[in-house]
Amino acid sequence: MSWHPNLWHPTTQVATSPEPWKVVRAQGCQLELQDGRRLIDAISSWWVTLHGHAEPAIAAAIGRQALQLEQVIFANFSHEPAEQLATRLAALSGLERLFFSDNGSTAVEVALKIAWQWWRNQGSERRQLIAFEGAYHGDTFGAMALGDRSVFTEPYDSLLFNVARIAWPHTHWGDADLETREAEALQQLDRALDTPTAAVILEPLIQGASGMRMVRAEFLRSVAERVQRRGSLLIADEVMTGFGRTGALFASQRAGIQPDLMALSKGLTGGFLPMGATLASERLYQGFISTTPEHTFFHGHSFTANPLGCAAALASLDLLQHNPERYQQFEALHRPQLEALAELPVAQRVRCQGTVAAFELNLGANSYLNPVGKQVQRLCMEQGVYLRPLGNVVYLLPPLCISEAQLQQCYSAIHQAIHTLVAEQQ
Ligand SMILES: Cc1ncc(COP(=O)(O)O)c(C=O)c1O
Repeated sequence: MSWHPNLWHPTTQVATSPEPWKVVRAQGCQLELQDGRRLIDAISSWWVTLHGHAEPAIAAAIGRQALQLEQVIFANFSHEPAEQLATRLAALSGLERLFFSDNGSTAVEVALKIAWQWWRNQGSERRQLIAFEGAYHGDTFGAMALGDRSVFTEPYDSLLFNVARIAWPHTHWGDADLETREAEALQQLDRALDTPTAAVILEPLIQGASGMRMVRAEFLRSVAERVQRRGSLLIADEVMTGFGRTGALFASQRAGIQPDLMALSKGLTGGFLPMGATLASERLYQGFISTTPEHTFFHGHSFTANPLGCAAALASLDLLQHNPERYQQFEALHRPQLEALAELPVAQRVRCQGTVAAFELNLGANSYLNPVGKQVQRLCMEQGVYLRPLGNVVYLLPPLCISEAQLQQCYSAIHQAIHTLVAEQQ
């Protein structure tokens, strides 16, 4: 274990972080380290590994595709995997048009640019964007601007455009004053929408990076109804929540809302390959069809619609569609375990949606920089479980293939870590 002399790791402060553990292989839920240790990947490697590591059907699909067509420029050309994927995602999402990019941040950038230019193409003057407190939409500049300001964005704040920011009334088991907070957020939204607004972006049901902050479907329906009544566009950032994570194929569907644009990535390829997709309604697409060159959507990435990514995504969709019960019923696996955790006085604001379970550890500050998360990580590693808490928010977001025994092992590790930390404080 050592820092490689030529690598630079993401969101990692070398001065204070442990050296990275070297992984030699991964299978199902398990990571195998060079030193022989095995770890349960309880956060799906930053929420991407959907079915499991090295899932054979996806691996085989990529292999077959690699021997047939590995990559081709997607301007002037099309190919079968892209067309099939577009057809299937359109049918599943209700959004007819698919624009490919490379990751979650670019999927959001594309959604933002389509929304902005769509109004412009119509000669409209809608110049406001609305986003939510605690939002995270990625690390590129447009995505950062839409996201809430935080330690992540602080060095660049002066470069980020302003958006109107609305409270996010996140909730948990036994929440008392939720309806008041929801009503206040909706009033804020009403006031913001008095200014002509191009688009409103949200992470449906769960804000991921700000700490698995969950809202009720009822709240999202009220938001969508207001946004659509004022004629603004609704962008659902489903980069984390897409592909069954919240118990429905898309969180928008579980919430009962129909966005105009949807950003997808992470689980899109089952977590095998980096790929982003922005789904848009036919109405938006038609707004770009014109003999005026300036109405063209001048955006494109070298790897647009990479055939390997498309083949992986098709194989992943097959798996999801053959066994929807797996993600639909996943919440029932978390519940009894979470109920036991909720008994602990330091485990607060417990919440769960689909495959995602979270709580706040009431030790130290409610902040991303609270070191308690790193202590939980270290203690759980000792018990064969890999977690990456967000500050004092401990969460599980495992691949769908996790067994009940493995999930039990994750919860036991968390219990044990909490007991150790509480004992240390006494
Ligand atoms: C909701 C959401 N949007 C966008 C992104 C950015 O995705 P990527 O890291 O692939 O650029 C993330 C990443 O965690 C996310 O959770």
